[in-house]
Amino acid sequence: MAILISGRGTNLQAFIDACAAGELNAQISLVISNNPAAAGLQRAQNAGIATRCIDHRNYRTREEFDQALVDELNANEVNLVILAGFMRILTPVFIAPFLGRLLNIHPSLLPKYPGLRTHQRALLAEDAEAGATVHFVTQELDGGPPVLQARVPILANDTAEDLAIRVAAVEHKIYPLAARWYVEERLALTDAGAQFDGKQIPSTGIQYTADLR
Ligand code: GRF
Repeated sequence: MAILISGRGTNLQAFIDACAAGELNAQISLVISNNPAAAGLQRAQNAGIATRCIDHRNYRTREEFDQALVDELNANEVNLVILAGFMRILTPVFIAPFLGRLLNIHPSLLPKYPGLRTHQRALLAEDAEAGATVHFVTQELDGGPPVLQARVPILANDTAEDLAIRVAAVEHKIYPLAARWYVEERLALTDAGAQFDGKQIPSTGIQYTADLR
Protein backbone atom coordinates (compact mmCIF):
# COMPACT_ATOMS: atom_id res chain seq x y z
CA MET A 1 0.00 0.00 0.00
CA ALA A 2 0.93 3.62 -0.38
CA ILE A 3 -0.77 6.31 1.69
CA LEU A 4 -1.10 9.85 0.35
CA ILE A 5 -1.46 12.70 2.81
CA SER A 6 -1.41 16.48 2.98
CA GLY A 7 -1.75 17.14 6.69
CA ARG A 8 -1.77 15.81 10.21
CA GLY A 9 -2.11 12.14 9.26
CA THR A 10 -4.35 10.70 11.95
CA ASN A 11 -5.84 8.26 9.43
CA LEU A 12 -2.29 7.33 8.37
CA GLN A 13 -1.61 6.64 12.06
CA ALA A 14 -4.68 4.39 12.23
CA PHE A 15 -3.24 2.37 9.32
CA ILE A 16 0.20 2.19 10.96
CA ASP A 17 -1.43 0.96 14.18
CA ALA A 18 -3.71 -1.55 12.40
CA CYS A 19 -0.72 -3.05 10.56
CA ALA A 20 1.34 -3.22 13.75
CA ALA A 21 -1.54 -4.91 15.59
CA GLY A 22 -1.92 -7.52 12.86
CA GLU A 23 -5.45 -6.30 12.08
CA LEU A 24 -4.42 -5.33 8.57
CA ASN A 25 -2.17 -7.81 6.81
CA ALA A 26 -0.43 -5.37 4.49
CA GLN A 27 2.72 -3.34 4.23
CA ILE A 28 2.75 0.42 3.97
CA SER A 29 5.68 0.73 1.59
CA LEU A 30 5.47 4.46 0.99
CA VAL A 31 3.87 7.64 2.30
CA ILE A 32 3.66 10.53 -0.14
CA SER A 33 2.79 14.10 0.78
CA ASN A 34 2.26 17.03 -1.57
CA ASN A 35 2.92 19.29 1.40
CA PRO A 36 6.47 19.37 2.80
CA ALA A 37 5.12 20.59 6.15
CA ALA A 38 2.60 17.75 6.62
CA ALA A 39 2.84 16.52 10.21
CA GLY A 40 1.95 13.04 8.99
CA LEU A 41 5.40 12.68 7.40
CA GLN A 42 6.88 12.50 10.89
CA ARG A 43 4.40 9.77 11.86
CA ALA A 44 5.59 7.71 8.88
CA GLN A 45 9.25 8.30 9.71
CA ASN A 46 8.64 7.31 13.34
CA ALA A 47 7.21 4.02 12.05
CA GLY A 48 10.19 3.45 9.73
CA ILE A 49 8.15 3.96 6.55
CA ALA A 50 9.74 5.54 3.46
CA THR A 51 8.42 9.00 2.68
CA ARG A 52 8.46 11.21 -0.39
CA CYS A 53 7.36 14.78 -0.81
CA ILE A 54 6.03 15.53 -4.27
CA ASP A 55 5.17 19.21 -4.08
CA HIS A 56 2.40 20.12 -6.53
CA ARG A 57 3.79 23.66 -6.73
CA ASN A 58 6.75 22.30 -8.68
CA TYR A 59 4.51 21.16 -11.57
CA ARG A 60 2.93 23.28 -14.25
CA THR A 61 -0.26 21.27 -14.60
CA ARG A 62 -2.35 18.86 -12.53
CA GLU A 63 -1.56 16.18 -15.12
CA GLU A 64 2.20 16.56 -14.72
CA PHE A 65 1.86 16.37 -10.95
CA ASP A 66 -0.35 13.29 -11.24
CA GLN A 67 2.16 11.62 -13.57
CA ALA A 68 4.91 12.18 -11.00
CA LEU A 69 2.70 10.44 -8.39
CA VAL A 70 2.01 7.53 -10.74
CA ASP A 71 5.71 7.13 -11.54
CA GLU A 72 6.60 7.03 -7.85
CA LEU A 73 3.85 4.53 -7.03
CA ASN A 74 4.82 2.28 -9.95
CA ALA A 75 8.50 2.43 -8.99
CA ASN A 76 7.43 1.05 -5.60
CA GLU A 77 5.15 -1.64 -7.07
CA VAL A 78 2.22 -0.37 -5.05
CA ASN A 79 -1.05 -2.32 -5.28
CA LEU A 80 -3.47 -0.28 -3.18
CA VAL A 81 -3.48 3.50 -2.84
CA ILE A 82 -5.04 5.09 0.24
CA LEU A 83 -5.92 8.78 0.08
CA ALA A 84 -5.88 10.00 3.67
CA GLY A 85 -6.52 13.71 3.75
CA PHE A 86 -4.79 14.23 0.39
CA MET A 87 -6.00 17.67 -0.58
CA ARG A 88 -5.47 17.61 -4.34
CA ILE A 89 -8.05 17.11 -7.07
CA LEU A 90 -6.87 14.19 -9.19
CA THR A 91 -7.06 13.86 -12.97
CA PRO A 92 -7.55 10.72 -15.10
CA VAL A 93 -3.75 10.53 -15.41
CA PHE A 94 -3.73 9.34 -11.80
CA ILE A 95 -7.17 7.79 -11.44
CA ALA A 96 -7.22 5.60 -14.56
CA PRO A 97 -4.18 3.42 -13.75
CA PHE A 98 -5.34 2.92 -10.15
CA LEU A 99 -9.08 2.61 -10.76
CA GLY A 100 -10.46 -0.09 -8.46
CA ARG A 101 -7.43 0.06 -6.17
CA LEU A 102 -7.78 3.65 -5.02
CA LEU A 103 -9.73 4.48 -1.84
CA ASN A 104 -10.60 7.76 -0.12
CA ILE A 105 -12.31 8.70 3.10
CA HIS A 106 -14.64 11.66 3.19
CA PRO A 107 -15.95 13.28 6.41
CA SER A 108 -19.65 13.17 5.61
CA LEU A 109 -22.47 10.72 5.04
CA LEU A 110 -22.04 10.62 1.25
CA PRO A 111 -23.81 11.37 -1.02
CA LYS A 112 -24.47 14.28 1.37
CA TYR A 113 -21.90 17.05 1.41
CA PRO A 114 -19.18 16.27 -1.10
CA GLY A 115 -16.43 18.89 -1.04
CA LEU A 116 -15.18 20.96 1.88
CA ARG A 117 -16.55 22.25 5.23
CA THR A 118 -18.73 19.17 5.66
CA HIS A 119 -19.23 19.55 9.42
CA GLN A 120 -20.27 23.20 9.17
CA ARG A 121 -22.76 22.26 6.47
CA ALA A 122 -24.25 19.43 8.56
CA LEU A 123 -24.65 21.79 11.54
CA LEU A 124 -26.18 24.52 9.39
CA ALA A 125 -28.70 22.04 8.00
CA GLU A 126 -29.56 20.97 11.57
CA ASP A 127 -28.89 17.34 10.69
CA ALA A 128 -29.32 14.80 13.48
CA GLU A 129 -26.31 12.76 12.33
CA ALA A 130 -22.94 13.17 10.70
CA GLY A 131 -20.28 10.65 9.79
CA ALA A 132 -17.66 9.44 7.38
CA THR A 133 -17.63 7.35 4.22
CA VAL A 134 -14.89 5.23 2.65
CA HIS A 135 -15.36 5.12 -1.11
CA PHE A 136 -13.66 4.01 -4.29
CA VAL A 137 -12.26 6.99 -6.15
CA THR A 138 -13.58 7.69 -9.61
CA GLN A 139 -13.43 10.83 -11.71
CA GLU A 140 -16.37 12.40 -9.88
CA LEU A 141 -15.13 14.39 -6.85
CA ASP A 142 -16.17 12.56 -3.66
CA GLY A 143 -18.63 10.71 -5.92
CA GLY A 144 -17.14 7.23 -6.35
CA PRO A 145 -19.08 4.21 -5.04
CA PRO A 146 -19.26 4.14 -1.23
CA VAL A 147 -17.86 1.08 0.56
CA LEU A 148 -18.28 1.63 4.29
CA GLN A 149 -20.03 4.38 6.24
CA ALA A 150 -20.12 5.21 9.95
CA ARG A 151 -22.60 7.52 11.66
CA VAL A 152 -22.25 9.64 14.77
CA PRO A 153 -24.91 11.73 16.50
CA ILE A 154 -24.88 15.51 16.33
CA LEU A 155 -25.38 16.79 19.87
CA ALA A 156 -26.92 20.08 21.02
CA ASN A 157 -24.36 22.90 21.00
CA ASP A 158 -21.83 20.92 18.94
CA THR A 159 -19.27 23.04 17.14
CA ALA A 160 -17.72 21.93 13.86
CA GLU A 161 -14.58 21.07 15.87
CA ASP A 162 -16.57 18.87 18.28
CA LEU A 163 -18.09 17.08 15.35
CA ALA A 164 -14.76 16.70 13.56
CA ILE A 165 -13.31 14.93 16.63
CA ARG A 166 -16.29 12.57 16.89
CA VAL A 167 -16.19 11.78 13.17
CA ALA A 168 -12.39 11.29 13.13
CA ALA A 169 -12.74 8.60 15.82
CA VAL A 170 -14.96 6.52 13.53
CA GLU A 171 -12.81 7.27 10.47
CA HIS A 172 -9.94 5.53 12.24
CA LYS A 173 -12.08 2.40 12.61
CA ILE A 174 -13.68 2.18 9.19
CA TYR A 175 -10.76 3.08 6.95
CA PRO A 176 -8.34 0.28 7.97
CA LEU A 177 -11.29 -2.15 7.96
CA ALA A 178 -12.21 -1.27 4.36
CA ALA A 179 -8.55 -1.70 3.35
CA ARG A 180 -8.54 -5.07 5.10
CA TRP A 181 -11.51 -6.15 3.01
CA TYR A 182 -9.64 -5.10 -0.10
CA VAL A 183 -6.52 -7.02 0.93
CA GLU A 184 -8.66 -10.08 1.66
CA GLU A 185 -10.11 -9.74 -1.85
CA ARG A 186 -13.62 -9.27 -0.48
CA LEU A 187 -13.98 -5.81 -2.01
CA ALA A 188 -14.01 -4.93 -5.69
CA LEU A 189 -15.03 -2.15 -8.03
CA THR A 190 -16.96 -3.54 -10.99
CA ASP A 191 -18.81 -1.91 -13.87
CA ALA A 192 -21.97 -2.28 -11.77
CA GLY A 193 -20.42 -0.53 -8.76
CA ALA A 194 -18.75 -1.56 -5.51
CA GLN A 195 -19.12 -5.18 -4.40
CA PHE A 196 -18.47 -6.92 -1.09
CA ASP A 197 -18.25 -10.71 -0.99
CA GLY A 198 -19.65 -10.73 -4.54
CA LYS A 199 -22.75 -8.69 -3.62
CA GLN A 200 -23.62 -5.15 -4.60
CA ILE A 201 -22.88 -2.61 -1.83
CA PRO A 202 -25.82 -0.25 -1.12
CA SER A 203 -25.47 3.26 -2.54
CA THR A 204 -24.54 4.77 0.85
CA GLY A 205 -22.07 1.99 1.68
CA ILE A 206 -22.16 -0.83 4.22
CA GLN A 207 -23.24 0.66 7.54
CA TYR A 208 -20.56 0.22 10.18
CA THR A 209 -21.27 -1.72 13.36
CA ALA A 210 -18.67 -2.68 15.94
CA ASP A 211 -19.00 -6.40 15.15
CA LEU A 212 -17.98 -6.01 11.46
CA ARG A 213 -14.75 -7.80 10.62
C1 GRF B 1 -10.21 13.53 7.41
O1 GRF B 1 -11.24 14.29 7.96
C2 GRF B 1 -10.68 12.83 6.18
O2 GRF B 1 -12.04 12.48 6.24
C3 GRF B 1 -10.47 13.87 5.11
O3 GRF B 1 -9.28 14.51 5.48
C4 GRF B 1 -9.09 14.42 6.88
C5 GRF B 1 -7.74 13.83 7.10
O4 GRF B 1 -7.36 13.88 8.45
N1 GRF B 1 -10.42 13.27 3.81
P1 GRF B 1 -5.97 13.23 8.89
O5 GRF B 1 -4.86 13.96 8.15
O6 GRF B 1 -6.01 11.78 8.55
O7 GRF B 1 -5.88 13.47 10.37
